[in-house]
Amino acid sequence: MMTPMNPMTPTNKLPKPSAIPNSAQLNQAAIQTSKPSAKPSATDKPQHRDLTDIKDLKTDISHIHEFLGTPTSAAWLEAAKQDLPTLLQDHANCEKKAAGTAMNLIFRYEFHSDLQVKLAQLIREEMLHYEQVLALMRERGQAWQHLPAGRYAKGMLKHKRTFEPAAMMDILIIGAFIEARSCERFAALSEVIDTKDAKLAKYYRYLLKSESRHYEDYLMLAKSLEPHNTTHGGDILDGDTVNAAGSSVDSFSSTVSKTPTDADSLNVAKRVAFFRQIEADLINSPDAELRFHSGTPE
Ligand SMILES: [Fe+2]
Ligand SMILES: [Fe+2]
Repeated sequence: MMTPMNPMTPTNKLPKPSAIPNSAQLNQAAIQTSKPSAKPSATDKPQHRDLTDIKDLKTDISHIHEFLGTPTSAAWLEAAKQDLPTLLQDHANCEKKAAGTAMNLIFRYEFHSDLQVKLAQLIREEMLHYEQVLALMRERGQAWQHLPAGRYAKGMLKHKRTFEPAAMMDILIIGAFIEARSCERFAALSEVIDTKDAKLAKYYRYLLKSESRHYEDYLMLAKSLEPHNTTHGGDILDGDTVNAAGSSVDSFSSTVSKTPTDADSLNVAKRVAFFRQIEADLINSPDAELRFHSGTPE
């Protein structure tokens, strides 16, 4: 059993080799830190690179619908149905980006042990999804095309605070929204795409289980930073706990400062409510580009 510890203090040491938990202990840790994530997912073993034999799963995502501030519109679903090649290309980009962002977080927050474990699994799964989408594109005779990212992630990231640990909390909450919206759109698309694309619909249903767990993991990691949270070590932290190398990575890099952090600024429910409104505005407002997370078609 892993001992409770503050995962972000600089004095935090990695376990000695003899203390590295075996897989049964890691599973136990997952049970302790996040109940919904306790069971290994269908994507834990990377055996479905070519989409053969994937199961047609049914996954309850009602908690995702409750989390999001707005449902995907019928207009977006219709536009997506009419341009599946663009949607698939952007889906491939999103899987790769999800893995890259998580890898950057792993380097940046090297002292947060729960984050290391959860995001290492997430990265494996996102890269498996990337392989699967590439296989699907190949099967459909779809060539790779360059497709610039849409406005969605940037639209949330610009509201991320620039001091730690608030910046870390915000990026984790944004991650939760991206995963939740992906999940909601996979489910909605699987209901409306034509029978000739039944394999794609089945694949989208297959993704629900892992994508909803990614949402849960990001949210759990954000909650672990709340000051009262002793299970995961949520002490008030400062910039010293962030790997200096992380300050140069990717779009979420922040200016690490030692701005005093009060308990109220580390209230996850408040930050979730804040980002829920921003996310809903991005989804509901007119958007000239079709992307997996785009707004209402103009
Ligand atoms: Fe994914
Ligand atoms: Fe994901």
